[in-house]
Amino acid sequence: MTLVIDHIGELVTNDATEGDGPLGIVRDAALVIGGDGRVAWVGARSSAPAADRSLDARGTAVIPGFVDSHAHLVFAGDRAAEFAARMAGSPYTGGGIRTTVAATRAASDDDLRATVGRLRREMLWQGTTTIEIKSGYGLTVADERRSLRIAGEFTDETTYLGAHVIPADADPDDYTALVCGPMLSAAAPYARWIDVFCERGAFDEDRSRAVLTAGIRAGLGARIHANQLTPGGGVRLAVELGAASADHCTHLAPPDIDALAASVGGGAPGTVATLLPGAEFSTRSRYPDARALLDAGATVALATDCNPGSSYTSSMPFCIALAVREMRMTPAEALWSATAGGAKALRRTDIGHLGVGARADLAILDAPSFVHLAYRPGVPLVRTVLVSGVPAGGTPIDGAAQLTEATINGGHH
Ligand code: NIG
Ligand code: FE
Repeated sequence: MTLVIDHIGELVTNDATEGDGPLGIVRDAALVIGGDGRVAWVGARSSAPAADRSLDARGTAVIPGFVDSHAHLVFAGDRAAEFAARMAGSPYTGGGIRTTVAATRAASDDDLRATVGRLRREMLWQGTTTIEIKSGYGLTVADERRSLRIAGEFTDETTYLGAHVIPADADPDDYTALVCGPMLSAAAPYARWIDVFCERGAFDEDRSRAVLTAGIRAGLGARIHANQLTPGGGVRLAVELGAASADHCTHLAPPDIDALAASVGGGAPGTVATLLPGAEFSTRSRYPDARALLDAGATVALATDCNPGSSYTSSMPFCIALAVREMRMTPAEALWSATAGGAKALRRTDIGHLGVGARADLAILDAPSFVHLAYRPGVPLVRTVLVSGVPAGGTPIDGAAQLTEATINGGHH
């Protein structure tokens, strides 16, 4: 069964060969999805081939689904009191992570699963079609393994973050050895990536290097929480080890920016700078210097960092609005970073764009242009989400000649 999305006012493909600029914009467009759930055809609607069914976008914008490449969804409880205290003047130190660890250890598998499912749905309804999910609130062999097992029920992009903080009762060297040894062995079958919180009070540079090196040796890809709260060597370590992404990048020195920019030269995938403005918003911190990164030629991604401590938002549109308003990214740069940039941070070529052959993961907006994502902050503009060509929520595209509004909305709301 093929499906044509017709009457698209503004189609963002992120495929420069399809249309204008890096966003590859086609106006008055149509997009055909093949029976395999992939994009089969893109172009002007006047020359669209016939398809079995059609969906009328009524002149609105269609964008690639967001790729949220940084989220901590396996946890229990919340830290609203910590947030309120912070808004009254207390600083964010990351110390609250241990509160969430205690709650997570005490939670049942079903409770954790319910939380991940709830946040996953929130994300989907806001246009996110791929998520990365980290462990990191278990911090025992059994709790890290189960966090990753549950994460794996929701995504293939699972990240082992046993090196989130050093547990209150643990010796730093002993705990690092555990993370690099038995905990890694237990986690690796359930993880694609390894991550470490490289920060004063968490893992210093030497321990971070040990953790990432052990993970790489076990076959995992590397990513890192780097330069979030203080300057340091985390970003340069990421580049040195060939990490897919250095995340946060809030406190960068010129050599850090140069290293990130140099990493993407010569067609190499390089190390993406993943910016998480929800964290600066929710910790009332200064934002990363996105302009310096972009102007130097680094690859920039945007992600939510969804977690109960530093950034309890599941909304990529909110992060786009922050990136534009607070970090001086253009609306086009922010959209690219939230889609294609996220895909690069996960080293994926099948998602983050709507070129022919891409997975048909997309969002139809209640707006004539993607610019409205930043221009109308806080407004739910995502109308319909398709994952592999299927309306989110599991509504099958059945034999109906036309997907009606009721079919779509029944599926995802
Ligand atoms: O990315 N920085 C470390 N980890 C999370 C915060 C986790 C928490 O506060 O619970 C982050 O901001
Ligand atoms: Fe994080």
